[in-house]
Amino acid sequence: MEKKFKRTTVTSALPYANGPVHIGHLAGVYVPSDIYVRYLRLKKEDVLFIGGSDEHGVPITIRAKKEGITPQDVVDRYHTLIKDSFKEFGISFDVYSRTTSETHRRTASDFFRKLYEKGEFVEKTSMQYYDEEAQTFLADRYITGECPHCHAEGAYGDQCEKCGTSLSPTDLINPKSAISGSAPVMRETKHWYLPLDKHEEWLSKWILEDHKEWRNNVYGQCKSWLDMGLQPRAVSRDLDWGIPVPVEGAEGKVLYVWFDAPIGYISNTRELLPDTWEKWWKDPETRLVHFIGKDNIVFHCIVFPAMLKAEGSFILPDNVPSNEFLNLEGDKISTSRNWAVWLHEYLRDFPGKQDVLRYVLTANAPETKDNDFTWKDFQARNNNELVAVYGNFVNRALQLTQKYYDGVVPVCGELTDYDRETLNEFKDVKQKVEELLDVFKFRDAQKEAMNLARIGNKYIADCEPWKVVKTDPERVKTIIYISLQLTANLAIAFEPFLPFSSEKLRRMLNMESFEWTQLGSTDLLKAGHQLAKPELLFEKIEDEVIEAQVQKLLDTKKANEEASYKANPIRENIAFEDFQKLDIRVGTVLECTKVPKADKLLCFKIADGLENRTIVSGIAKYYNPEDLVGKQVCFIANLAPRKLKGIESQGMILSAVNFDETLSVVTVDREVKPGSEVG
Ligand code: 2FM
Ligand code: ZN
Repeated sequence: MEKKFKRTTVTSALPYANGPVHIGHLAGVYVPSDIYVRYLRLKKEDVLFIGGSDEHGVPITIRAKKEGITPQDVVDRYHTLIKDSFKEFGISFDVYSRTTSETHRRTASDFFRKLYEKGEFVEKTSMQYYDEEAQTFLADRYITGECPHCHAEGAYGDQCEKCGTSLSPTDLINPKSAISGSAPVMRETKHWYLPLDKHEEWLSKWILEDHKEWRNNVYGQCKSWLDMGLQPRAVSRDLDWGIPVPVEGAEGKVLYVWFDAPIGYISNTRELLPDTWEKWWKDPETRLVHFIGKDNIVFHCIVFPAMLKAEGSFILPDNVPSNEFLNLEGDKISTSRNWAVWLHEYLRDFPGKQDVLRYVLTANAPETKDNDFTWKDFQARNNNELVAVYGNFVNRALQLTQKYYDGVVPVCGELTDYDRETLNEFKDVKQKVEELLDVFKFRDAQKEAMNLARIGNKYIADCEPWKVVKTDPERVKTIIYISLQLTANLAIAFEPFLPFSSEKLRRMLNMESFEWTQLGSTDLLKAGHQLAKPELLFEKIEDEVIEAQVQKLLDTKKANEEASYKANPIRENIAFEDFQKLDIRVGTVLECTKVPKADKLLCFKIADGLENRTIVSGIAKYYNPEDLVGKQVCFIANLAPRKLKGIESQGMILSAVNFDETLSVVTVDREVKPGSEVG
């Protein structure tokens, strides 16, 4: 039995306030959540839309250090930029606050203290790197050193950016503190852990049995976490930026950013509704929905629910619609490489075209797989769909009404079979769009709305009122009447998706307001109703405009390539004898599998001419293991064996590191005998 709810609390992931928002964020989280909320509001449901900036965490402190300003300066700058651009883009939050607010500090502290007092944490001491010069413990990102895997310098304590391998700080060779440059020492430190292992049983049942309806990507990721077994997670850090751990003996420690950030949803509700916030978080008749990107799944489906359950008085999410990633012109969006279309720049370059981007991001939403944004596609969707279908139909209907009837809705005459067919077709649209939006299928739902415009376009093109007017002017009244009803329906159907255009269309139609329940109705505009002056709903986007955007990206790419080349200059000459020490061979891949609990690693079995050897390589992000079987790869055969995730790796597979940091294995262009030397 479907549960009936009284109200819906919708949250959208709080973006980190250490950079502006880009199209990947919009497509993944903010456009779909805004569509959903607008749809519920239009249906007159009780809904609250929560947003805000995530202002803690190590990357913010690193950015501040780099720029020589305080972390507060960093978040002040980006919070304002993000908040303003969301507003201009029409993301209709009921509240957009921040995790450095006083309300949030209080809410998160109280939350931690309650769990602490209930005995929901375990305290553990562990050894961690400490910078004696700077007198501070070092976050993983603050430790750099040589990657044990690819031997690149400058790998971080949590990851080598060169080969993509996940690391822990103790894996690094010759670790160095990024603060003082000194070699860190190991020191004991105490932290509080949320024992997720104790929550595993109910979480498994709650997700795997009770929430089979969650999107496949969400369900699948949860299942694989649960199958691997959950581990206790530290919820505090040794850091001087964040919310102080509010218990005795915790000096110098703050709440882990992923502990405080989701509580931010609650704090922001509280800030907006100090007296009534609880009903949005604690009443079992409230439905909680989290919109997030795929990198946030574990925190929203496992960690945060465990926190809420441990606290005891909160409801749990009903659904967590998470999207995959959006790429840009074939490459992963990257803030550090400036490979993105930034929202504030889009708003500057395309004033008044919020709906075009909203439309394209929804039409191409990465709902089930990663998708690609290209400027060509952006232009094509604008020119061939918004302008040529939706805009063209509306414009014809409105202009003809103006021309023949001075903008007054004519009286509908007798219907032909074709009229009836057309009317019937658009009567279903309400149900279709609802069914899709209710299950978070935004792409398909928008397609249905567009289909309504296609019906209209076809109708008016088939009926040719501009010809019929000469022979049968009475008939034209009916054609225009029907076209206008369709136009009004379009304004309603598109309102959740393209709110700016719907508003414009509503004004042109001189309608006071519209409601979702009216969708599908065939007499929205009564005969005799006066319309306002028509304007174009959408404009064509010219090639030059698109070329300028493409050029901007090409310039970025070039700058990145140059920077990457500068950062990796050709090294000093070496003696031929030194080169000869390297034993590079060709091997045939016999088997290739993912390494459990290491999302970056693949384990190879290689035929090397003599026997088979095992090599672990950090290229899982770039290949399906099965695609590599049978390939001939080059590897260093005499590298001293090393253990990676418990597997002894006997050598290293050579890969080319592309400028965008993706990896390609080095192969031979003609088959050779396994074990052949490369030199
Ligand atoms: O991944 C991110 O951008 C995080 N700042 C999302 C936080 S969501 C929530 F927990 F606040
Ligand atoms: Zn590496």
